[in-house]
Amino acid sequence: MRKIQPRLLLISCILLRSISGIFSSRSVILSSIEIFNTHELLSPKPIIYFQCHGEKKIILPDVKEKHIVYKFKGVESWQPLAELPDKKCKRCGLYESDSVKSDDIFDEWELCPDEFLDGNCIHYKEKEFNSTFTCTECITIIGAAKPSPKADSPNKKLNLAMAILLGVLTILLVAVGTFGMYKYWQRGGEGTAPSKIP
Ligand SMILES: *[C@@H]1O[C@H](CO)[C@@H](O)[C@H](O)[C@H]1NC(C)=O
Repeated sequence: MRKIQPRLLLISCILLRSISGIFSSRSVILSSIEIFNTHELLSPKPIIYFQCHGEKKIILPDVKEKHIVYKFKGVESWQPLAELPDKKCKRCGLYESDSVKSDDIFDEWELCPDEFLDGNCIHYKEKEFNSTFTCTECITIIGAAKPSPKADSPNKKLNLAMAILLGVLTILLVAVGTFGMYKYWQRGGEGTAPSKIP
């Protein structure tokens, strides 16, 4: 029995890890987009869509005008844009439907879970578009893997300041106490000394 328990623990750990790996997909939502360019000259209303390699097209129904920042809450009917597997990237892109030739590409890039610092990720391409994506489930991986040093240092500074303050306070208390004892002893000495002389 004693030998089985650690092994059982190990097995259940591995099992739990793989289960969480299977079920924890990370939803990526589009939080904002601004396009700087459209590629279809004849059609005034472009059909813009997002697509990850091998997955279905997601048409952004509202994005029609250049130089307007479209903001989304993430609950729109076409969201989320994609699901990211654990620690793996997906090749995705932003495209515009073309009625004559093949669809135009705004950009194609790797959408990776570790690029969502604070849960957000900006993808900008010069003269094409600027977009922000959100993946709240992606933060937890980063937070668990490596605590950010930025959040750590102010805490350490605060702790150091607290330690110094406590030290100073302790010294002050000891000094006041010692001084009081000394004064008391002095007065006591003055008080008892004359009474013994006569
Ligand atoms: C892209 O959008 C983000 C979020 O709206 C903004 O902070 C950033 O300045 C923009 N960048 C450019 C080059 O427009």
